[in-house]
Order: sequence, then structure tokens, then C-alpha cells
Amino acid sequence: MLGITKEFPGVKALNNVTLRVKKGTIHAIVGENGAGKSTLMKVLNGVYQAESGEILIAGKKVSITDINKAQNLGISLIFQETNMIPQLSVTENFFLGHVKCKKGGVVDWQGMQEAVKKVFDELGYTINPRCLVSEISAAEKQMVEIARAISKNADIIVMDEPTSSLTSDETERLLDIVRKLKTQGKTIIYISHKLEEIFAISDMISVQRDGEIIDTKPASEMTTEEVIEKMVGRSVQTEYPVRNTTPGEVILKVESVSRKKLVQDVSLELHKGEVLGLAGLVGAGRTEFAETIFGAAKMTEGTILIHGKAVKIRNTKAATRASIGMLTEDRKETGLALKASIKHNIVISNLKGICSAGFWTNSKKENDAAKKYIGQLKIQTPSVNQTAVNLSGGNQQKVIIAKWLFSDVDILIMDEPTRGIDVGAKYEIYCLINELVAQGKSIILISSELPELIGMSDRVIIMHEGRQKGELSKAEMTPEAIMRLAVS
Ligand SMILES: Nc1ncnc2c1ncn2[C@@H]1O[C@H](COP(=O)(O)OP(=O)(O)OP(=O)(O)O)[C@@H](O)[C@H]1O
Ligand SMILES: [Mg+2]
Repeated sequence: MLGITKEFPGVKALNNVTLRVKKGTIHAIVGENGAGKSTLMKVLNGVYQAESGEILIAGKKVSITDINKAQNLGISLIFQETNMIPQLSVTENFFLGHVKCKKGGVVDWQGMQEAVKKVFDELGYTINPRCLVSEISAAEKQMVEIARAISKNADIIVMDEPTSSLTSDETERLLDIVRKLKTQGKTIIYISHKLEEIFAISDMISVQRDGEIIDTKPASEMTTEEVIEKMVGRSVQTEYPVRNTTPGEVILKVESVSRKKLVQDVSLELHKGEVLGLAGLVGAGRTEFAETIFGAAKMTEGTILIHGKAVKIRNTKAATRASIGMLTEDRKETGLALKASIKHNIVISNLKGICSAGFWTNSKKENDAAKKYIGQLKIQTPSVNQTAVNLSGGNQQKVIIAKWLFSDVDILIMDEPTRGIDVGAKYEIYCLINELVAQGKSIILISSELPELIGMSDRVIIMHEGRQKGELSKAEMTPEAIMRLAVS
């Protein structure tokens, strides 16, 4: 890609970018949220047209006007945001746009299902091809996307944050697949905020900043510190900020909560000013449990007590009334109003906080609140009025976090809060979590990143197959101790 420039209203997303990728290599692109990584890959895939610059494949200039053109040229992209239609089955989504037919034009359902099954088997995935996409988890959606891209047999495969909702086991499996693809002579362009992954698999690393590629070097000649420094232009805190507060009285008590087969007999206590971690593998039931507490799914058994008083939480509105908020893991489906502005997304869960005289919304308060978080979380946007859908993946996540930081709920469930967030901004989020805790708020933290869970939690509860398997105190928390309980 030579001299690629791409502008959006108020944003120069790519500024004269040149990227050279060698055949048969794994080439990583790293950079802060909003650096332009996804945009560059969308230009390569024909989703966007660059204003200037050219693309050459094997030395030959090509014009990539749409995704089909890219596919015909042997390029396939795993999007950062899953792009599946929830109302259709896994198989239907898999074959979207190129449905297989039998002779006479009859759709070959069985053939398609078998084909999907075959790819899944190869990858070790156990997802049922007949399931509706709305019924599978964020991680499973990501797996379907990965399988779909690989099955197209492309020569160049772009993976934009493929592991953001996978746990370490599944990530390892994906990395093995990537290595295998490389031995088959395929070229992989790999984008991730997880620098360990980057160093584990890449041959080359390109660092992108503010719409420019500022350096490309063999991975063996770079260190993590160097990459971070190039990404953000300064050194960053990679430790966890210390918290000087101690948890107080019990605020939330959950007694033997079940949700059909997904969650069984889970009990816990959450204290005022506490961060309680929930650990487990994908499918352990952590999100399902959180949804039940938040009223997003039906509790089939159990009791929830807040300040010692039993409460009925039939829906999410009742949860908010009971002062429980939830930052969901799936930002596109449940976290953001994509067509609304950043500002409105941030203030939506605390309209009281922006009202004057009780009920008139005050646009100054609204703007001030939005600006505060845009500044603190370094949300990259030309204005508070930008539509959420136009933000980069990581910046969308920051808006969801801002929304819940601004809400005045006492109990906040955070499901994978730093998913897709760059290394520089993670620390800011941890500091904001500590700020909430200092204000006496309580947090249930679900994270697949063990260092984060250990670094931020006062206590951790481990789940496995919908049940709780044990609890570890701050002193007992080690990755090994957590994993031992998570797998058995
Ligand atoms: N369709 C769009 N309309 C307006 N602005 C856009 C659009 N797509 C991207 N941008 C802007 O272009 C810039 C680069 O975004 P891009 O998604 O490429 O970042 P990224 O490096 O992939 O970040 P992340 O790590 O958060 O995914 C951002 O400032 C983003 O807000
Ligand atoms: Mg991106």
C-alpha cells in the first residue's frame, strides 16, 4: 500500500501511509485507539476508497472497489466488529452472499451445514452450525468470523483484533492456526492490543500513530517498551494503580441464583467499595450470571438482596432503579446507541445528572460531562456531537465506560471493560475504577485477562460450567490458583 490517504469529516484517518507486507509472513500492526489501523485494512478490503495512494499485489497495481473485488484478489478480512445477522443461523451467516445450491437451484442446507461443521472441527470449535447467531456468545461469534475468513482460502488474511473476546486457551489455539496458515504460505496481517500475542507470532511489526505508520521492523529487533513508546509517544504505566480504601459493609447479597442450566446455585456477597472479580473460561457462565443479576435474563431460582432487603429484578429498568448498572461485553448490540452522538450516549444513564430545576436537561451540563470523560479517557473524536458509529472500536468502548462512570449507580457490573482498549488508556480506566470505589461504589469485574483481574480485584470468585468453584482472597490470587479452579 503506497501513500494511502483517507479523510473523514474532521478526521484525517490515514495520512500518506505506506505499508509493505512480504508474502508468507505474519505482519503485525499496532497503535493506539483511533490510530487508523482498521481504516487502513478497510481500504485494503474495499470497504473504504482512499482519496489518494495505490495498492499493489505481487507488484501489480490493483483497484479494490468493494469487498467482492478484494475476495477475488485473494484477500479476506476478519472485522474487529462482528458483522453477523443475529436472526440468522450460524450456517446462514457463514454462507451469506454465496449460498450453496443443489442442481435446480434448491438451497443445499445439509451441504452447507456439513461444510461449516468441517471447518469448526478442524479448528476445534464446538459451536452448533444450526444455532441462531443471537444465541451464541461474543467469543463464539468471533470464532465463527475466524472460521469464515479462513474457509475462504484467501492468500492474504487480515485479522483485526481477532482475540479480543477470547480467553487465553482459545487465543493459543488461534495463534497455532495463524502459524499453520503461515507454513502454508499465506500472508497474515494481524492487529491486536495484546502485545504478548504480537511478540509471540509476528515476523514484522508496524507501529501506527495518528494516521501514519511511523516504524516497521522485525519483531526480533523490538521490545515491548519500545513498541509502547512508539505507539503513544511517551512511556506508560503498565502496573495497576494502588487502592487505599478498604471494603465496607455488604451491599449486595446473591443467594442461590440459577438461570435454567446456564447458571446454577451461585451465591455471593459484594461489599461497599469493593471490586469483586469473576474468573472463568469462555462459557463458564460469568456473563450469564451478570445478566441475571442485571435483569436482562430471567432468574429461575434464588434471591437478590440489596442493603439486606430482598428485591425483585424483573428487567433492566428495575435493576437501574435498584442502582445496578452493567457494562456489557458486546458493545455493538447492547452497549451503545450507535446512531446517537457520543454526548448522548454518555449522559443517557444519568439524565438526572444533567438536569436543572429537576427536569429540564441542561446542555451545558451535558457538554461538560461528555467533555470531562472525553478528556480523561482520551476518546478520539472531532467533537462531542460525533455519531458513535463513526468512532474506532476502542473509542466506542471508552464511550460505554464513560456512560457507566457517569451513571450514579451504586453497583456496577463491568464485563470485559478493557476489551479493545490500547495499553495507554487501560491505566486511565483502572484509575477511574479506583475513583468510583473511593466514592463508595461497588464493582463486579468480569475479565478474561488474569493480570487485570488479579491487579484490580479485592477478591475473586471462580466459575466453571455455570457453577461457582471457589473464592480466592487477594493474597491467594495467582494465575495458577485461578486456572486450577477454572478448568475443573
Ligand atoms: N466512518 C467513519 N466516519 C468518521 N470517522 C471515522 C470513520 N471510521 C473511522 N473514523 C475515524 O478515523 C480514525 C481512525 O479510526 P480506526 O477505526 O481506523 O482506528 P483504529 O486504529 O482501528 O483504532 P482501535 O484500536 O480503537 O480499533 C478515528 O479517529 C475514527 O474516529
Ligand atoms: Mg480498529
